[in-house]
Amino acid sequence: MLNKKTVDDIQVKGKRVLVRCDFNVPMKDGVITDENRIVAALPTIKKLIADGGKVILCSHLGKPKNGPEEKFSLAPVAKRLSELLGQEVVFANDDTVVGENAKAAVAAMKDGDAVLLQNTRFRKEETKNGEEFSKELASLCDVYVNDAFGAAHRAHCSTVGVTEFVDTAVVGYLMEQEINFLGNTVDKPVRPFVAILGGSKVSDKINVINNLLNKVDTLIIGGGMAYTFMKAQGYEIGKSLLEEDKIDYAKEMMKKAEEKGVKLLLPVDNMVSKEFNNDAPFRVCEGNLEADEMALDIGPKTQAIYAEALADAKTVVWNGPMGVFEMSNFAKGTIAIAQALANLQDATTIIGGGDSAAAVNQLGFGDKMTHISTGGGASLEFLEGKELPGVVAVNDK
Ligand code: 3PG
Repeated sequence: MLNKKTVDDIQVKGKRVLVRCDFNVPMKDGVITDENRIVAALPTIKKLIADGGKVILCSHLGKPKNGPEEKFSLAPVAKRLSELLGQEVVFANDDTVVGENAKAAVAAMKDGDAVLLQNTRFRKEETKNGEEFSKELASLCDVYVNDAFGAAHRAHCSTVGVTEFVDTAVVGYLMEQEINFLGNTVDKPVRPFVAILGGSKVSDKINVINNLLNKVDTLIIGGGMAYTFMKAQGYEIGKSLLEEDKIDYAKEMMKKAEEKGVKLLLPVDNMVSKEFNNDAPFRVCEGNLEADEMALDIGPKTQAIYAEALADAKTVVWNGPMGVFEMSNFAKGTIAIAQALANLQDATTIIGGGDSAAAVNQLGFGDKMTHISTGGGASLEFLEGKELPGVVAVNDK
């Protein structure tokens, strides 16, 4: 189980608590278009406020290359947080993040107040894990809490460096929950344990496939990456996505599955079209594709086989859609998987972040899953079996 200290292990009354969140949310014209990460951070923030801490929040947003830029400002997040918490979250708007505004705002805090600092990436040293900015962040607080699971794979000042200059560094509830599901549940699964991997590229999932083959009973593969596997099986895949240099790897993984006694399921039919276009004609294709066709989703037989493989699963991890789910004609495979998971009565269903989380939420199955990770790259690295620097850096129990 989790061996890290959490917010339940500390006293925060009257203390300045710096909380690293992942408020890296999608925005369009200054409007937040998906607030899941903000909502997921609320339990920790509410607990610290209720316990009388002075809650200083910080996060990165986007990838500002040239220092401060208005479009990467966290001001919209401060506004939304104030609404969600029902109390003002003071926005300390400093281009240097820990500048005069931030220091004054923190000095004026009373127990239970909340302040949000400006985007940590407005400081170039942030992504280099530089000592000076790490010390500045640490100087603002008595206690540090890392609840930014989505950024835990980054060794930055606000996720790692700062911990060297504070006495107490613990994880928040979101981080604890993510580690429990992606780490502990996957390491000690109730069986049968089924993993579903999709998305466009084999190369993105190489280490995940390799690691999960050591743990699962069944591995289901769909999405664009399935066609490199089909090519490795000897099928003609037309213009479907192919990573030529990963064909041997796909063969190796098929062999590993056989040796480990893992059932590896690949598409037996696909929805194919001559164009990458929802309005173009399409058909169900079993086996070989024509040279001018591309597969854009798994077909009905494959959906049925995959649903059957999931029917008695007790633990499921899913990362990556089965097809181009943004196009309605090629969303059925992803919907079928989401439905199969939603039908499970007594299973733990874990959705790796990124596209699969977006798919499950957009298709309306979000509340049917046990856990939807807020991490993108972080969840993938966790599923690869890597230790995340942001987790390693906090104090052990
Ligand atoms: C994410 O969106 O995956 C995290 O917030 C990390 O963002 P980054 O890839 O810009 O470091």
